Amino acid sequence: MDTMNVTKIVGGVCGALLVFLLFSWVAEGMYHTGGGHAEGEHKVGYEIEVAEASTTESAEAGPSFEDMMASADAEKGKKVFSKCKACHKTDDGVNSTGPHLFGVVDREIGKVAGFSYSAGMSGKGGTWDAATLNTFLTKPKNFIPDTKMSFAGLKKEADRANLITYMMTIK
Ligand code: HEC
Repeated sequence: MDTMNVTKIVGGVCGALLVFLLFSWVAEGMYHTGGGHAEGEHKVGYEIEVAEASTTESAEAGPSFEDMMASADAEKGKKVFSKCKACHKTDDGVNSTGPHLFGVVDREIGKVAGFSYSAGMSGKGGTWDAATLNTFLTKPKNFIPDTKMSFAGLKKEADRANLITYMMTIK
């Protein structure tokens, strides 16, 4: 009988311990899940905020640059290019204040022979594709802080798209 009682007590204690362990494990799991969930919720909220912000932004900015390029007009771009003519020639190899812009689209950045570039432009690397030109022409100093090109930039996306479309024809 004594042995039975001991067994019962031990069993009871073990059972209680098991229940306790199980409970704390579940509780911990819930706590962690809860914590993770709260964090997740926070992130999701943040992402939504960002998404909303960018949606509003792009709504304000109108069509994307790609859309602008698709409907760009080289003739209009030629007129915009009058702002560049003071410093840039379009004849191959003829540099003036700025390097010649013959075949500049898809040309290597800062690599025209015989032109003395700023360190920033000659060391920039890459090529002048439409997207890069768009970034540069928006505000040259943002793209290359030490650029020698004293030009504030073209604020209107349509002007840049038309201009770049025109520049594609200079080749
Ligand atoms: C006041 C003179 C000036 C004006 C105006 C100007 N540029 Fe420039 N441009 C420069 C100079 C100088 C450089 C070389 C910059 C450097 O070395 O950092 C340059 C460089 C460039 C380059 C890089 C060429 C290469 O070989 O990598 C492009 C593209 C360019 N200009 C396009 C334009 C366009 C398009 C306009 C008109 C919207 C314009 N620039 C207006 C002086 C000018």
